[in-house]
Amino acid sequence: MKFTLSRLFPCIFIGLFLAIGCSLFLVQPISFASAGPAVYNARDRIHPIFARNGLVVSQEALASEVGLSILKQGGNAVDAAVAVGFALAVTLPQAGNLGGGGFMVVYDTMRRTSEALDFRETAPAAANRDHYLNQQGAVDEQRIRYSHQAAGVPGTVAGLALAHQRHGRLPWRHLLEPAIRLADQGFPVSTELAQSLREARPRMEYWPASLQVFFKADGAAYQPGDTLVQKDLATSLRRIAIQGSKAFYEGEIARKLVADMQAHKGLITRDDLKNYRAVVREPVRGRYRGYEIVSMPPPSSGGVHLIQILNILEAWPLAELGSQSAATIHRLAEAMKRAYADRSEYLGDPDFVNVPIAGLTAKAYARELAAQIDLEQTQPATAIKPGQPQRYESEQTTHYSVVDRQGNAAAVTYTLNFGYGSGIVAAGTGILLNNEMDDFAAKPGVPNAYGLIGGDANAVGPGKRPLSSMTPTLVFKDGQPVLVTGSPGGSRIITTVLQILLNVIDHQMNIAEATVAPRVHHQWLPDELRIEEGLSPDTIRVLEEMGHTVVIKDAMGSTQSIVRGPGGWYGFSDTRRPGGLAAGY
Ligand code: DON
Repeated sequence: MKFTLSRLFPCIFIGLFLAIGCSLFLVQPISFASAGPAVYNARDRIHPIFARNGLVVSQEALASEVGLSILKQGGNAVDAAVAVGFALAVTLPQAGNLGGGGFMVVYDTMRRTSEALDFRETAPAAANRDHYLNQQGAVDEQRIRYSHQAAGVPGTVAGLALAHQRHGRLPWRHLLEPAIRLADQGFPVSTELAQSLREARPRMEYWPASLQVFFKADGAAYQPGDTLVQKDLATSLRRIAIQGSKAFYEGEIARKLVADMQAHKGLITRDDLKNYRAVVREPVRGRYRGYEIVSMPPPSSGGVHLIQILNILEAWPLAELGSQSAATIHRLAEAMKRAYADRSEYLGDPDFVNVPIAGLTAKAYARELAAQIDLEQTQPATAIKPGQPQRYESEQTTHYSVVDRQGNAAAVTYTLNFGYGSGIVAAGTGILLNNEMDDFAAKPGVPNAYGLIGGDANAVGPGKRPLSSMTPTLVFKDGQPVLVTGSPGGSRIITTVLQILLNVIDHQMNIAEATVAPRVHHQWLPDELRIEEGLSPDTIRVLEEMGHTVVIKDAMGSTQSIVRGPGGWYGFSDTRRPGGLAAGY
């Protein structure tokens, strides 16, 4: 689907309309009392949502409201994040999930520490390096994207349970109640969901269990305003509420998932589920123009390359060069290319390969790379043959950000990979299965669905986590969180999050402006500078004169961000994907 200017503008206006409308109902008047360090940039252009105490920003309004109600009941940011995670699994089935995985970066204000929770899927024990190659030695795309074998062992339930166990305040069961209610009693289908389900139909049609959940009994599509009830999902959620994550990994849900696998040549066994562990990791950290960046370490490539690119960019006065100037975009593109080249070589699951995190995020290395960049002319990507990147553009991961009145913060990005994952619901569970195995480099040098290539470091291996680009990120000033952000967007996630940081820190935009500003992206291979509609033709011409191949494609990402400002928090839900909400009190 091409995102043309005429489509982008209505989205922005609808978003603004929603944002302003919501601000009338959900927020209190702005107080200008000073409250410690802030990154609120007060130019009066597009307004974010203000909240004095706590704020939840997600891509789906009902889920944001669930998070807000948890905060109001005395839950902390992690309680709200857990409840939103389960609610999105019901109301945003494209990306919210129980059958996928993700990452959470948490700041705990009492302990003054940040930690990264890794609940990325793992490869089943039966998945070895060449598992997804056909007899001709080519990657079997059908198998790695659309079959039961596309699924990694899901991590979401274990991840949310781990987050709750370490940081939660309210009882676990209580946090699942809203999701259970939404699944059991149903919720009104939005225009976006109706359209997205219609688009997903060709993939779901193979699977009776998927059709049964996401289409009416007579096979008809849900229309906007219809009620979508998910009884099997409600039962699965109830089991998780009562028995905890054991229900998913060892109990009745595990039994049903494995039965579905066995009926369809899937790889996931009872042992795979039983052996799954969410992991607490040390976040990756960097400094950029006086701010501390805290983000997701491997098995995400996000934090490492976010910091690497920021380090390179620190060489130049971007604020002076201007936010949408060819000079700035050229520097961004050249820095991005170098980071993505390194990604293809070095990044993988740190439990299996040695990822040189310190080296990649070192200022000295960034200076070396910056010195290689020609400020007048682009340098072409090297001769590694990437093949043709796939045209698949369904962008369905989701991010949400939460802050509470104590100053705790949670940034969560989780996913099924494609919209609705493989499109397969495991019979009797209401749970969609991810197709995260495609995030491995199934064959060295052959691009995955996002055009990303890799080698040994990200080869398939039993129990291994596929490399991710998800970049849930916290930014600190003087030890206080001042920005919470993240995005979906496959390979574009890292550069999308990067531009939120640059727009806020260098270009002094408020979070609404920082969000709607047009984005650019370069991932080394394919050797193209991808931009959104909205950049001026003059700028594009200058970039082309510098040697860039500039292509205008779909809008990139859907950031859900919060910044600290005068009197409290300011949030903004990206208008590129309608239906989100910043809900605070
Ligand atoms: O983990 C990753 O990097 C991908 N599975 C994310 C996919 C994604 O963001 C799709 N949609 N926006």
